[in-house]
Amino acid sequence: MNQRKLFSKYLAPTSHYPLGLDVKKAKGEFITATNNEEYYDLISGISVCSLGHNHPEIIKAAKDQLDQHMHVMVYGEYLQKPQDLLGEMLASLLPGSLNSSYFMTSGTEAIDAAMKLAKRVTKKTSFVAHTMAYHGTGQGPMSLMSSEYYTDKYRPLISQTYFIEQNDIEGLEEIPWNEIAGVVIELVQAEKGAIPCSKDYLKRLRELCDKHCTLLIFDEIQTGIGRCGTMFTFEQYEVIPDILVLGKALGGGMPMSAMVSSRQMMDTFADFPVLGHISTFGGHPVSCAASKKALELTVDTLAKEDITQKEKLFKQLLKHDKIEKVTGKGLLLAVHYKNNDDCLSVLKGLMDKKILSDWFLNAPQCLRIAPPLNITNQRIEMICQTILDVTSQIN
Ligand SMILES: Cc1ncc(COP(=O)(O)O)c(C=O)c1O
Repeated sequence: MNQRKLFSKYLAPTSHYPLGLDVKKAKGEFITATNNEEYYDLISGISVCSLGHNHPEIIKAAKDQLDQHMHVMVYGEYLQKPQDLLGEMLASLLPGSLNSSYFMTSGTEAIDAAMKLAKRVTKKTSFVAHTMAYHGTGQGPMSLMSSEYYTDKYRPLISQTYFIEQNDIEGLEEIPWNEIAGVVIELVQAEKGAIPCSKDYLKRLRELCDKHCTLLIFDEIQTGIGRCGTMFTFEQYEVIPDILVLGKALGGGMPMSAMVSSRQMMDTFADFPVLGHISTFGGHPVSCAASKKALELTVDTLAKEDITQKEKLFKQLLKHDKIEKVTGKGLLLAVHYKNNDDCLSVLKGLMDKKILSDWFLNAPQCLRIAPPLNITNQRIEMICQTILDVTSQIN
């Protein structure tokens, strides 16, 4: 049976219209299909491979760890050097209050854990989330999803969530803060079509959280690890969260996520009852070794590359009467078309020209741009010209 048949027969589907690229290998900015055709990956595997696919130094770090040991025990019991060194490295990159990391494997699990931690610390149970945000599909993160289309069939979900439009400062005054354990926010709302949060809104949120003993939780799963031009996007806002959630690019291509907070808050998971969160594969040693190397490489890349200049170049070049606007920050950008069909035909046109992109979960009219951080200006110019050519062919 050929590979396509195996895929459709034995793998559970997420939709009935998968992209269906048959992957042979991936290196740097390119994915090679089994027929040896090379595709430019304009979305880095959805903001994961920010240093390109199969970075040789990340591979080496993972292989070196494979030679030592793989899984030895559930997270939190044994001393495992790759975990300990990664925890130290993250703390060194973050403000003093974010000094304790809990490592997991997926973004959804880390958001779920952050919601649990907020309940433990505040002894409150409700959450504030933002309309059309996406934080994962476990039942905790799904409770933070305003889209009825995606959540309706799974109700009842777990917590009472108050939804607010991101940047609606006045709306914040209407929230019943005495009930709210945590506010979960992305600093660029990725799946809504890369919509940045305003500085004033975030500042007001911080004030209200402080006033009402509510935890401010930043979901930097997609915006973190250099994607928006700084290691963490919150550095650009001068607002520090109580809990920071990381994932995607954190593992350099390996499954890896983290919830980072203060040691004092994290301690609540260890008492009455103990084992507040358990994860067998949390902080897998091979993922942690890859992750530490990815962080080191990202520090170097950010020192060399001017991500803001690249953002500006994309925004400057992507001008067309069928493009309404380009939003986003750094290299997390969305090209807004009038409707889903226009975006879909651009996606198909790009695929024909061997460029891989995607739409956004809550913004199917938007084309996703999230290339590796070291994309060259020359490449940006070529890609933009192709997007414009394909856009001109929309009927
Ligand atoms: C902002 C954000 N939060 C959470 C998630 C969920 O992460 P995961 O798919 O690793 O569970 C995603 C995934 O796209 C995301 O973009």
